[in-house]
Amino acid sequence: MQDNLVLLYWYDRNSRQLPWRTPPTDILSGAKPDPYHVWLSEIMLQQTTVAAVKSYFELFIRTWPTLADMAHAEEEDILKAWAGLGYYSRARNLYKCAKHVQLHHNGRFPEEEERLLALPGIGPYTAAAITSIAFGRHAAVVDGNVERVLSRRHALLTELPALKAEVKPLMAEVTPHDRPGDFAQAMMDLGATICTPKSPACGICPWMDVCEGRKQGIADTLPRKAPK
Ligand code: ADE
Repeated sequence: MQDNLVLLYWYDRNSRQLPWRTPPTDILSGAKPDPYHVWLSEIMLQQTTVAAVKSYFELFIRTWPTLADMAHAEEEDILKAWAGLGYYSRARNLYKCAKHVQLHHNGRFPEEEERLLALPGIGPYTAAAITSIAFGRHAAVVDGNVERVLSRRHALLTELPALKAEVKPLMAEVTPHDRPGDFAQAMMDLGATICTPKSPACGICPWMDVCEGRKQGIADTLPRKAPK
């Protein structure tokens, strides 16, 4: 079986249930993720851990259930609700983006990576995450987890931050055209639960048979960082 399918099947059994994800049972009955939820969660997760984001995400969608609700809110209320998440420029851009999409895109997020990139607060990572997770379009989603997993999988000795440029085409290549968003999130979950920065659990990894880092006994030393 192809490596990427092995990982997707692992994800089907082991994905973390997170409030912005559509449960696998709902996906089977045709449910699609709400782009507003995907966007909001990805902005919140930019510099904050999954554990810290969960309750904020739930508060935000209770308070502003739709993009239109957020676009019509007062900026002050958004900033107040954001308190504790840090990096207030993210909250300001969040509000700017909600208003922009409401005004210029009829309240619907554009589906293409290039057009998402043009929106306030959306950089290459977030554009790729939204286009693949919310719209099922092929994109290379590269965050720190993906850098770690692929640097180990291919035993890449290039140091961070240069490593990122090497990982992007590898992620593009391994991402399937069917379920690209689930694949990206599978990589994130693998990085968060098995292919962890310290003491990775290689013995239960779905990629144990193909991982060059594990075969060479260097997985836990990767990715390498340039000395400060
Ligand atoms: N970190 C950033 N985006 C994420 C996602 N969709 N799932 C889990 N962790 C993430």
